Amino acid sequence: MKLKNLILVDHPLAQRDLTILRDKKTTSLEFRNSIRRISSVLITAVSKNFEVKKVKVDTPLEKTTGYELKHQIVIVPVLRAGLSLVESFLEMIPDAKVGHIGIYRNEETLQPVDYYLKLPRNIGVAKVLIIDPMLATGGSASAAIQFLKDRGAKDITLVCLLAAPEGVSTVNKNHKDVKIYSIALDRELNFRGYILPGLGDAGDRTFGTI
Ligand code: PRP
Ligand code: URA
Repeated sequence: MKLKNLILVDHPLAQRDLTILRDKKTTSLEFRNSIRRISSVLITAVSKNFEVKKVKVDTPLEKTTGYELKHQIVIVPVLRAGLSLVESFLEMIPDAKVGHIGIYRNEETLQPVDYYLKLPRNIGVAKVLIIDPMLATGGSASAAIQFLKDRGAKDITLVCLLAAPEGVSTVNKNHKDVKIYSIALDRELNFRGYILPGLGDAGDRTFGTI
């Protein structure tokens, strides 16, 4: 399987936290705390090549030149599990706007089912970051990307914690223009579409609904 557009964020703190997330003994509280920390590493990597524009700034001593982000950033968590990354992303990009997409995976057919969509205006000129911890079959991510494209988004990046080769390949096939950031690329999916070795059901573990 030839995988493209995948950027793996290799950082000791992210690897440490991913191990906590994988551990079945990790409680929901520890799981959420780990996601918060790992999200800070992720957004730092994702934003590394954001374009900036020069601005003038007056220090207490003199005038100098500084920088602002050139493009409006729009963060779009895929409900539910994507919500757990939002706060850390906003911490680093406080003036980002946040859209929401509600999609869940039908556990039998593994097909994405959409139930909610609320996006900020002017998404067509923004840099859009879709965030969802898990990229498994790639059905949910592909549908989320398509919803945003249908509403004018042109610059879309997918940000996840764990990806399966099948999911990366599906997104590559459906959306050649979309870059995917992930902490790790796992081995494969099991017969129920769960990532192996994985971390289980991210939404359930985050919100304690197991
Ligand atoms: C999980 C995950 C992704 C999706 C990935 O959500 O957060 O959205 O599954 O699977 P896919 O790549 O095969 O589509 P889930 O459907 O469990 O919904 P939830 O976040 O509400 O728990
Ligand atoms: N969704 C999850 O939360 N975990 C998986 O392994 C696959 C899909």
